[in-house]
Amino acid sequence: MSAYEQEYNWAKDNPQQFWLTQSQHIDWFTPPKTALATDENGIERWFPDGELNTAWLALDYHCEQGRGERVALIYDSPVTGTAKQYTYNELRDQVAKTAGMLAQQGVAKGDRVVIYMPMIPEAAMAMLACARLGAIHSVVFGGFAPNELAVRIEDAEPKVVMTASCGIEINKVLPYKPLVDKAIMDSRWKPEHVVVLQRAQCIAELNQERDIDWHDAIELAEEHPCVAVKSTDPLYILYTSGTTGKPKGVVRDNGGHAVAMKYSMSALYNMPQDGAYWAASDVGWVVGHSYIVYGPLIHGCTTILFEGKPVRTPDPGAFWRVCEQYQVNVLFSAPTAFRAIKKEDPNGDCLSQYDLSHLKTIFMAGERLDPPTLEWVESKSHKPVIDHWWQTETGWAIAGNPTGIEQMPIKAGSATKPIPGYQVEILNEVGEPQIANQQGFVALKRPLPPSCLPTVWRNHDRFESGYLSQFPGYYVSGDGGYLDDDGYLFIMGRIDDVINVAGHRLSTGEMEEIVGGHPAIAECAVVGVHDDLKGQLPLGFVVLKDGVDVDLEELEGQLVGKVRDEIGAVACFKHALVVERLPKTRSGKILRRTIRQIADGEHYTVPSTIDDPTSLNEIEQVLG
Ligand code: COA
Ligand code: AMP
Repeated sequence: MSAYEQEYNWAKDNPQQFWLTQSQHIDWFTPPKTALATDENGIERWFPDGELNTAWLALDYHCEQGRGERVALIYDSPVTGTAKQYTYNELRDQVAKTAGMLAQQGVAKGDRVVIYMPMIPEAAMAMLACARLGAIHSVVFGGFAPNELAVRIEDAEPKVVMTASCGIEINKVLPYKPLVDKAIMDSRWKPEHVVVLQRAQCIAELNQERDIDWHDAIELAEEHPCVAVKSTDPLYILYTSGTTGKPKGVVRDNGGHAVAMKYSMSALYNMPQDGAYWAASDVGWVVGHSYIVYGPLIHGCTTILFEGKPVRTPDPGAFWRVCEQYQVNVLFSAPTAFRAIKKEDPNGDCLSQYDLSHLKTIFMAGERLDPPTLEWVESKSHKPVIDHWWQTETGWAIAGNPTGIEQMPIKAGSATKPIPGYQVEILNEVGEPQIANQQGFVALKRPLPPSCLPTVWRNHDRFESGYLSQFPGYYVSGDGGYLDDDGYLFIMGRIDDVINVAGHRLSTGEMEEIVGGHPAIAECAVVGVHDDLKGQLPLGFVVLKDGVDVDLEELEGQLVGKVRDEIGAVACFKHALVVERLPKTRSGKILRRTIRQIADGEHYTVPSTIDDPTSLNEIEQVLG
């Protein structure tokens, strides 16, 4: 039996013993005696009798172990032309003070704090400060518009919002404070305070009664100690797109998360404890939570926080420059980032200028790693390039190539095999297992391993109905795919209304709600069509209300503006095409899959349930 099979079988056959063993690799305040128990909702929970503090594990523990002078965090910011390093001691002190500052604003264990910040060290400090207090953070990606922020504030009901005066994108300064003000104005829930970090590039106006200047407040703050929390207490809520306009608040436990982070750093990424790990993502996404902040720090690594882009900051050599400069061992990013690099540096001329001898492996996730991108990165970097599949809901990889256990042969287009702890099955519509090579719903047999969500924030029914009730005993991932004869998993894409634009998860259902809200629109469909750079882009098809007379170009501009204003520029909604009618089944269901196939130029069969087959011709015509 291979090393992978041994480990996989151990976790499958004896999950309690397997995970209790893994739990011993972190420093609990009260070590758990029980691995798994069921909560009042009938959901499995990990290490229910354990007590810990996640910020302690990420910082204080290493200082106590005499590793305080090692570099914990490197901030590299080509957009501001600055770089800064923090040792574990320095980061611990900053976080303890930030926690003290929050405590002064009345934040205590269990309270929520919304963090809307760009990629600066204070964003990580804010997260860790919440963890230190046992407060629950909810980070909102800086590219989201005020409406998205307002929805999250309303759902999480934070005592405090933490923000910065601005974010910086390529060649533009984006003031954040007006966005926060608008979100709070639009939200039914009003936080007591907004803590604002003033950046030199743009000074925000503060509301004297509500807003607090970060720098001033931290001067007065005292260091706050780590507060013990239960393993099952939430560490954070991270909102993610579902099929409706309302995002889902994925809840992450403290204990299971810490154990899974620690395990993954060795088993999956094969990271040495004193190495440098770089997830080129954003703290607003799950990858940023797990592998910019928590995973590398819990493991004792140096983590890189990069405020820049793969290209144009200043050139397509940025990733390789950072890898050389900080002797990065593992680089993790989304395929779209490498497609952007490939487009601007097809021959790898920029790459060849850098010494990548410390770089062992390149990992990718967020969307399927398409074979041409895999081949290009492999051939130019001469490193193993590893696809791994996961979701906000799980917090770490479901399938991958566990390089710390055994590096298996790479198959292009596959995320390799289930990570020990996960049992991946392919089911048909009635929940029966599919044979090898047959596509179906990718489902995870319960119990899910540590770190996976136990509920949706304050909406347990949504957790049950969205993930658990379709196939009893299983969690439904929302992705379709198959397992091949060797047990390799191929993820073929979402089977719901979620799309992936440049590695960003977005809901076409939400876009439809926004577009459909325009007074001229009778009905609409938004589908994700293939894009060579961003993987997918949303494309709208709209039917006008009878008698409406509008300039179509103007209308498209209004719809594009509406989606940009309500979701944000990251939605990349750029086109809406007017049609007489949408293809539907006789029962009135819009045939979105067929529309997408036509738009992608794929072969399609006319569904037998279609109401009016000529509606498909019209879609073909408007697409030219
Ligand atoms: N704050 C504010 N606005 C943001 C933002 C942020 N944090 N991130 C993106 N935006 C804006 C951009 O400025 C842009 O606005 P514009 O339409 O006014 O130009 C829009 O959102 C789209 O941005 P983006 O998707 O980044 O496209 P791009 O063309 O600027 O860059 C890539 C293309 C491929 C380089 C970029 O998408 C990228 O780096 N992708 C990697 C994504 C990633 O790491 N995902 C994490 C999953 S692991
Ligand atoms: P997010 O929750 O933002 O991480 O997005 C999760 C979704 O992204 C998954 O359900 C998949 O649809 C997609 N995804 C993430 N990683 C991969 C991968 N390696 N291969 C294919 N799809 C992926």
